Amino acid sequence: MKIAVLKENADGERRVAATPETVKKYIALGAEVRVETGAGDPASIADADYEAAGALVGERTAVVAGADAILAVQGPDAKSLKGAADGAWVIGALDPFREGARVKSYADAGLEALAMEWMPRITRAQSMDILSSQANLAGYKAVLDAASEYGRAFPMMMTAAGTVAAAKLFVMGVGVAGLQAIATGRRLGAQVSATDVRSATKEQILSLGAKPIFVENVAGIEGEGAGGYATEMSDEYKAAQAALVSSHIAKQDIVITTALIPGKPAPRLISDAQLQTMRPGSVIVDLAVEQGGNVEGSVAGEVTVIHGVKVVGHRNVASRLAADSSALFSRNLYNFLSAFWDKEAGKPVLDEEIGNAVRLTQGGKVVHERLLS
Ligand code: NAI
Repeated sequence: MKIAVLKENADGERRVAATPETVKKYIALGAEVRVETGAGDPASIADADYEAAGALVGERTAVVAGADAILAVQGPDAKSLKGAADGAWVIGALDPFREGARVKSYADAGLEALAMEWMPRITRAQSMDILSSQANLAGYKAVLDAASEYGRAFPMMMTAAGTVAAAKLFVMGVGVAGLQAIATGRRLGAQVSATDVRSATKEQILSLGAKPIFVENVAGIEGEGAGGYATEMSDEYKAAQAALVSSHIAKQDIVITTALIPGKPAPRLISDAQLQTMRPGSVIVDLAVEQGGNVEGSVAGEVTVIHGVKVVGHRNVASRLAADSSALFSRNLYNFLSAFWDKEAGKPVLDEEIGNAVRLTQGGKVVHERLLS
């Protein structure tokens, strides 16, 4: 099997879909690996490191020629994949809902597109889950970004010149990113509280030493839907949540929002009026900014100041830790391909459960049920 590793072209994308470590592992499986020149540069991996791991390094046309599997972080342009083997796999975070035209172009080019973000959330696929590996790093980095924008310290400090109070940090949305944000905030010495619509997170918040802030006594609420993801809440719940957040948020110095609902715009958790109640100099990091934002007025790619509060809207936060996020992303892809490796075929053969979950195109057509309905 010939594997091609592409250099990313998207603005601000610093990650790469294979590292020298995974290149070696693919070769050990019997694959041949080619890496596009400069693919690892933004993640501090030199072409020579790939060569030392056994890869051939070259321009895109040469790398893609005859490739059976093309590894990328974000979906590459189908035109640049001319010359790949018939039915070659394009594997990456393909953003199928927003990039419908590109998915169609993979079908037209006879490529088989595999969207790694649609990996089912089942135990055996945990090591292949790019959403988790990247969200974990994003949650960590969000707290560091908040700390660098905040004009005060996080931990309580007792000094000869007086006491510095601990920062109060509130995490909204306790999935993978939120849990890491709680842990990181605690490590830096902040007083941490957190909320979510899924009541199962209460125990997790307590186990990390933070305080759960939850809407109580609203009938018929169980915020957990399919695959452990959140569902959209009732109007009654939303009103109760807004009241609770209003009273809590006015006392917070740092807020990290991470709330997402699959296939829908991010829920609005902080209104302009609520922002106004916060102390000037407070910082909010909106990790959902690219999905429409949890915070009114947050702008993707910018740090805006609204009523004296800094609202941080960095895009692609995982990419801001490119070396680690590349290492984890690359291992997710390797774990995926190696789990299905068929020695006799000399290539992976997907099973139905995972194959149907991630496969977007096949035989010249878009085939995924979520894209056909
Ligand atoms: P996500 O990125 O889809 O959403 C982030 C968080 O926002 C979630 O905890 C969600 O409940 C919360 N949220 C949504 N609407 C909200 C609102 N209005 N107010 C407050 N919070 C709101 O979630 P993520 O991080 O992908 O995790 C979702 C679940 O999947 C978790 O239970 C996680 O443990 C589970 N999971 C399972 C895996 C597996 O079994 N392979 C792998 C990764 C995660």
